[in-house]
Amino acid sequence: MSQNKETEIQLQYIEKCKELLAKSSTKRPTFHIQNEGCQMNSIQTESIAAIMEKMGYEMVDTEDADAVVFNTCTVRENANQKIYGHLGHLKSIKREHPDMKIVLFGCMMQEHHVVEKIRKDYKYVNLVFGTHNIHKFPELFYRTLQTDDQIIDIWKESDEIVEGMPTSRKYSFKTGVSVMFGCNNFCSYCIVPYVRGREKSREPQAIIREIEELVADGVTEIMLLGQNVNSYGKTLETPVTFAELLKEVEKIEGLKRIRFMTSHPKDLSDELIQTMAESRKICHHLHLPLQSGSSRVLKEMNRRYDKEKYLELVNKIRKAIPDISLTTDIMVGFPGETEEDFQETLDVVRKANYDTAFTFIYSKRSGTPAAGMENQVPEDAVKDRFSRLLTLVQEKGRENSSRFQGSVQEILVEDENREKGTLTGRTQHNLLVHFPGEKDLIGKYVKVSLDTCKGFYYFGHIVEE
Ligand code: 5AD
Ligand code: SF4
Repeated sequence: MSQNKETEIQLQYIEKCKELLAKSSTKRPTFHIQNEGCQMNSIQTESIAAIMEKMGYEMVDTEDADAVVFNTCTVRENANQKIYGHLGHLKSIKREHPDMKIVLFGCMMQEHHVVEKIRKDYKYVNLVFGTHNIHKFPELFYRTLQTDDQIIDIWKESDEIVEGMPTSRKYSFKTGVSVMFGCNNFCSYCIVPYVRGREKSREPQAIIREIEELVADGVTEIMLLGQNVNSYGKTLETPVTFAELLKEVEKIEGLKRIRFMTSHPKDLSDELIQTMAESRKICHHLHLPLQSGSSRVLKEMNRRYDKEKYLELVNKIRKAIPDISLTTDIMVGFPGETEEDFQETLDVVRKANYDTAFTFIYSKRSGTPAAGMENQVPEDAVKDRFSRLLTLVQEKGRENSSRFQGSVQEILVEDENREKGTLTGRTQHNLLVHFPGEKDLIGKYVKVSLDTCKGFYYFGHIVEE
C-alpha cells in the first residue's frame, strides 16, 4: 500500500474516533501521555498526542484522565520497572473510573515476555502495540473505543515508513526530525536492534520537505535523529551519505542550526567531519558514544573500534573543528569488565575532554548476547566504579565547559526561568546559559557574554539583541 494511502486511511479513523467520542459524551474527554526513553520516542509521543488532540481530547498533567498513554523504553531494566509501577497505580484509578482507556506502546512492547505479562496480570490495559505499527494508532484506538476487551497488536518487522501523520512540538522554534529508524549494529548488550528492527532510512526528499515545512512554521533549529545517523542512506534504492543529506539540509533558507545524533564512532566518516567543518549551520557539538575505553571490552561489545581508533578519531575531529563540544555515553559493569578495563575507560575520559558524559550501569537485557555471558560483575564493584566514573566525568566536564568563560556566544533563547526576567538558552555547543532578559526574546538568537561558569552552565548578560 502506498504511504499516502495508509496516512489517508488513518486520518479517516481520527475522524471516526472524533465522531464516536462526540456522540458518547458532551464533556470534552481528557488524556494523559508519558514518554520514556530517547528523543526518537519523544517525537512519536508528540505525534500520538497530536492525534489525540485531533480526536477531540484535551491533554492533562495527571493520570486521572479518560485515556492514559505510555510510550515505553526498554534499553535498561529500570525503565520497565517504572512502567509496571505506573500500571499498579492506574489500577486503583481505573476502579473509580471504569471507562478509562489505558494504552501502552513502544519498545518494551516488542518483547514477548512483557506482552505475555500484560495479557495475564494487567487485563485492565486496553490497547498494546509496538514500534512497527505506530502509524496504525488511530485505527487501533477506534477499535479500543468500541470494546472493553484487551487489544494487542505487535508486528515483528516492517519495511514501511509512513509519512505525513499529524504531529506537534514542544517548542515552536526547534524540533527533532527522524531520518532513520532501527539499528543493524547488534552491540552485544543492546536490545534496540531487536525491538526497533533493521535500519530503515527515510527518503532525503521526504526529510527535506518536512524541514522546509517546519521552517515555514517558525522552526530555526532542527535535530536530525537516528540510532546511528552515520549509516544513514545506505539501504535506500539510491544510496545517499549522511554528509550529503546534511549538505541538502544546509541549503534550506531560514534554517539556522542543524544538530544530529547519535553517531557511531565506527561509521563517522572524514566526509562528515569535513562537512561539519565547512558548514555555517551545523552546530559544533558531537555525541560520540564511547561505551568502554578497554579495547578488550569493546571487542566483546561488538563495537568494531578500539581505544586507539576512538582517540585517533577524537583528535581528528578536534583538529578539523577546534571548538567542538564532545559528549558521550559510557557504561560500567559489562560482563567480564575488570578493574584494569575500567582504568582504560577512565583514561579515555581524561584524554577525550568531554563536555558531558551520560553514564550507565550495564543492564542485562534478555535475548542479547551479553545476557548469556557468564562473568557478570558483582554489584558492589559496579557501584564503586560507577561512582568513581561519575566523579571524574563531572570534574572533567566542569573543566572543559569553562573554556568559553569570558567569550561572547550566539544563544537561541529557549525559556523563561522560574525567576521572572531571567532567560535560558543554548550555545551551538549545547551549553546552557542563564541571563537577564525579557520573555519576548524566546525563540530568538541573541549574543550573550558568558561571564561565570557554574560547572555545566553559565551566567551571562546580553551584549546584542
Ligand atoms: N545497559 C546499560 N546501558 C545501555 N545502553 C544501551 N544498552 C544498555 C544496557 N543494556 C546505553 C548505551 C547507549 C545509551 C543510549 O544507552 O550507553 O549509548
Ligand atoms: Fe544499540 Fe549499538 Fe544500535 Fe546504539 S548502535 S542502538 S548501542 S545496537
